[in-house]
Amino acid sequence: MSQNPRIAIVGAGNVGGNLGIRLAGSGYSVRFGVRGGSEVKDLLAKCQGRAEASSVPEAAAWADVIFLAVPAGAALEAARAMGELSGKVLVDCNNPLKWEDGPVHTPPPEGSITAALAKAFPKARVLKGFSTFGAEFHLDPKIGDTSIDVHLAGDDAEAKALVASIATRAGFTPIDVGPLRNAALVESLAILWIHLAMRAGHGRQIGFKLLKRG
Ligand SMILES: NC(=O)c1ccc[n+]([C@@H]2O[C@H](COP(=O)([O-])OP(=O)(O)OC[C@H]3O[C@@H](n4cnc5c(N)ncnc54)[C@H](OP(=O)(O)O)[C@@H]3O)[C@@H](O)[C@H]2O)c1
Repeated sequence: MSQNPRIAIVGAGNVGGNLGIRLAGSGYSVRFGVRGGSEVKDLLAKCQGRAEASSVPEAAAWADVIFLAVPAGAALEAARAMGELSGKVLVDCNNPLKWEDGPVHTPPPEGSITAALAKAFPKARVLKGFSTFGAEFHLDPKIGDTSIDVHLAGDDAEAKALVASIATRAGFTPIDVGPLRNAALVESLAILWIHLAMRAGHGRQIGFKLLKRG
């Protein structure tokens, strides 16, 4: 797989927009996959000439790696709209939840949105990632000199290594958290982040960090 993969981002909202700016600023060619009527002129202007926008299927067909950042309930529908996903790396950034005096994880029967995507698109190389912190960190992954951890779960080691290399080049710290089944744990960790940030009073400028002695 190319060391300079073409990156599509489907969903140009808080997460997709900020991640696109960050990845374009890190030297990647980025294409936002947007639905008709979505206005991305201001977003493209922030991407240093390294990003374009097109329809969702055009962006997906062009890309090697596709980041999916839409409302979690729309993830499967948005992936269906991408067209042929055979061999594509699909990074699921989405967190299924409802709000009941705080965030509550609402996974599909497969255990996670990621597992549901992997089941629906068996020829895609699906992994979870870039989901366990607020969108402010997709734009700026550092607190002082410390880079925020990106938790990556998936069964395809080569795809995971590629996304880890993208994360590193863009200033994040990738952490391999194991197989696809652990995407459910990653979703739970994201729900915990939302609780801490938005229910427990810590605010959104917080992140998880794996500490190591020695
Ligand atoms: N916000 C955060 O801090 C954060 C952090 C980590 C993870 N996440 C997860 O990331 C995902 C996106 O969150 P967000 O805050 O970026 O949401 P957002 O700001 O509401 O943006 C969602 C984007 O998805 C697009 N979209 C909606 N349905 C679509 C479809 N069927 N096909 C293609 N595009 C579609 C919307 O475009 P239109 O203009 O066409 O509606 C919009 O650009 C969510 O699943 C969330 O759980 C969020």
